Amino acid sequence: MRTLVKKVLASSEPDAAVTVKGWVRTRRDAKGFSFLEINDGSCLSSLQCVVDAAVPGFDQIAHFTTGASAIVEGKLVPSPAQGQKWELRASKIELAGPADATYPLQKKGHTLEFLRSIAHLRPRSNLFGAVFRVRSKLAFAVHEFFQSRDFVYVHTPIITASDCEGAGEMFRVTTLKGKPDEKPEADFFGKPAYLTVSGQLEAETFACALSNVYTFGPTFRAENSNTARHAAEFWMIEPEMAFCDLQGDMDLGEEFVKSMARYALEHCAEDLSFFSKFVEKGLVERLQHVLERPFVRVPYTQAVEILTQSGRKFEFPVTYGQNLQAEHERFLTEEHFKAPITVFNFPREIKPFYMRLNDDAKTVTAMDLLVPGIGEIIGGAQREERPDQLAENMKAHNLNAKDYWWYADLRRFGTVPHAGFGLGFERLLMFLTGVANIRDVIPFARTPGNAEF
Ligand code: 4AD
Ligand code: MG
Repeated sequence: MRTLVKKVLASSEPDAAVTVKGWVRTRRDAKGFSFLEINDGSCLSSLQCVVDAAVPGFDQIAHFTTGASAIVEGKLVPSPAQGQKWELRASKIELAGPADATYPLQKKGHTLEFLRSIAHLRPRSNLFGAVFRVRSKLAFAVHEFFQSRDFVYVHTPIITASDCEGAGEMFRVTTLKGKPDEKPEADFFGKPAYLTVSGQLEAETFACALSNVYTFGPTFRAENSNTARHAAEFWMIEPEMAFCDLQGDMDLGEEFVKSMARYALEHCAEDLSFFSKFVEKGLVERLQHVLERPFVRVPYTQAVEILTQSGRKFEFPVTYGQNLQAEHERFLTEEHFKAPITVFNFPREIKPFYMRLNDDAKTVTAMDLLVPGIGEIIGGAQREERPDQLAENMKAHNLNAKDYWWYADLRRFGTVPHAGFGLGFERLLMFLTGVANIRDVIPFARTPGNAEF
């Protein structure tokens, strides 16, 4: 029976018979014996195996090269070496699959760009093993967070006919050859269909029945921005709450981000200390700091004042009525407040149709949570629950009310104040690991011009 290296290393006592299976990280040969470092991805650490020349299988030892797969049986004993509690005294070794000298992950520092070009092998490196273990743990934590608060998980559709954000960044789904717009009624769905940019509109229908719901699934955006924080395919977490206003929405966003930081500190300690050493110095302290203090909340108008009075030369000028650019967001959160901040009440013109109009008739109940190093990780709002105002919003955004008849129905039948937000899972992972490029926290990145693997 195979034991994972993680379990072996956590052993409280010696063990007479242990079998591990994994990949050779390194081999060092000494007189009459060899050291093998075996890693199986169950944790950051490898298991040191000491293989005596008399052990069955040793005649193949020359083939136990970096990248080869191997099975090692033996006895777990306290290790005399520094920095490791246990080592395996092999009683038998077996080569599962060889790897020749062209194996690209030979032990030396590789650039992140190079590792992206071998995305099928990079999970075998320390960095990417750690990133994807943390990603898995955090996905679990997302469900635990919402389930423990009685939120219902809803699978919203991936193929949709409505553009939630109205930004025209949707990928078309069609089975027609040639130009699909010439005859959309002949297409598979009888009308134009797209990959979803957000599950929000459908999540709202479920919140207006089951009260508190969330979605967690892939979303797609055909925005042609080649930045470190945009991907064409990413995972979004979208809670939606009935009988909730913007205040409650901001509270949940803050509680959620803090809870994810706490979970990572508690459940991913070994991987986080690796990031703290090799990716972002002081990461663990930064995350502890995030837990300790309330996030700052500033109305959009005040954020613009701070930016215009900062004396800072920005590439994009700051004026009331414009969207905040990444450089503005990062100035506010990194330099001015030096903390995560929630900006709220944005001008209605720059936000989507579904946001609730404030009494000033100029701003809507939008909120964006900005964090140091990244900028926006959450975008959310209280939704327009008044049927007449929703109709007016749609007109102002040039939307055809007929296309949103079911969405408007929620306002006709038992309408309630409700609110929600979307959090980009990859941006959360960047925040929690210190990894600076979104391409390095998603297994296989989809970006303009890039869909390899
Ligand atoms: O601010 P956004 O566009 O909001 C919505 O889609 C709302 N419908 C959500 C809601 O209220 N239910 O996107 C939400 C978040 C952003 O804050 C960001 O973290 C992430 O999704 N995001 C992206 N992440 C990676 N690559 C992209 N191209 C992203 N676009 C948005
Ligand atoms: Mg946004």
